[in-house]
Amino acid sequence: MAESLNILTEEKNGLLYLTINREDKMNALNYATLEELKEIFEEVVDNKAIKAVIITGSGEKAFVAGADISEIASLNEVNARKFAENGQEIFAMIENCHKPVIAVTNGFTLGGGCELAMACHMRIATANAKFGQPEVNLGIIPGYGGTQRLTLLIGRGKANELMMTGDMIGAEEAKSLGLVNHVLPTKAEAMEKAEEVISKIMSKAPLAIGMIVDCVNAAFLPDENGFQTEANSFARCVKSGDYKEGTSAFLEKRKPVFKGE
Ligand code: COA
Repeated sequence: MAESLNILTEEKNGLLYLTINREDKMNALNYATLEELKEIFEEVVDNKAIKAVIITGSGEKAFVAGADISEIASLNEVNARKFAENGQEIFAMIENCHKPVIAVTNGFTLGGGCELAMACHMRIATANAKFGQPEVNLGIIPGYGGTQRLTLLIGRGKANELMMTGDMIGAEEAKSLGLVNHVLPTKAEAMEKAEEVISKIMSKAPLAIGMIVDCVNAAFLPDENGFQTEANSFARCVKSGDYKEGTSAFLEKRKPVFKGE
């Protein structure tokens, strides 16, 4: 794994833990941290030993409290577009990753932090998590895909309300809106829940998991026929050894052993 200054990485049994580690700045995403995130995800895609990822923030106060405001205070029209496109590209890599990526959000999950969590395949929050898109307080809007992903996740009316008011919501409300999958009392319990979900996913056929990522994402791409993507992906699955193993194991009344081939 490449050397990172702002992100801690640890791999255990194929599960990569990423911790955004700028605790004194509420884990705000500066340019350097985003670049590290990009390099790490390039490796996640290429490295067969990595099967799943959990992203969290350092400390108890924040997952990520947004993009680093000290870096966005002096943008101009040209570099602001690049700033947004760069973040969007990196978050799309996460969303399109064929290995499950879960955000464990503790404390402030704001702006780019909420956008990062939404780019993950699932979100598991601690009871003290607070979600919001407060960019309007700075005279800007979400730029890392938040206007799109929040609307798709929680619907137009609530997304408009959250983005237009800049209000924060708690973990339980986020769960009731569909922004969060599970809420646990503490960070340790939230991590355990994420590990439990990931361990279940890791026991399934890896190629099928990747196809699910593609098909679910296709539902949100207006130019893509998601039903066709599903049919094509279904057909790709049956070319795999895992398909033969899964169906044979069922018929032979034994547990399948998937190889991701
Ligand atoms: N960018 C840069 N620095 C940030 C930051 C951000 N998004 N969020 C917090 N920080 C820094 C603070 O400037 C402060 O640094 P300092 O100790 O050097 O002054 C440190 O993190 C602690 O934050 P502080 O504001 O003192 O903590 P708090 O508990 O009073 O408030 C928040 C926490 C998250 C409510 C508040 O920091 C905040 O509103 N942050 C900005 C959120 C935001 O607008 N995000 C979207 C950005 S596009």
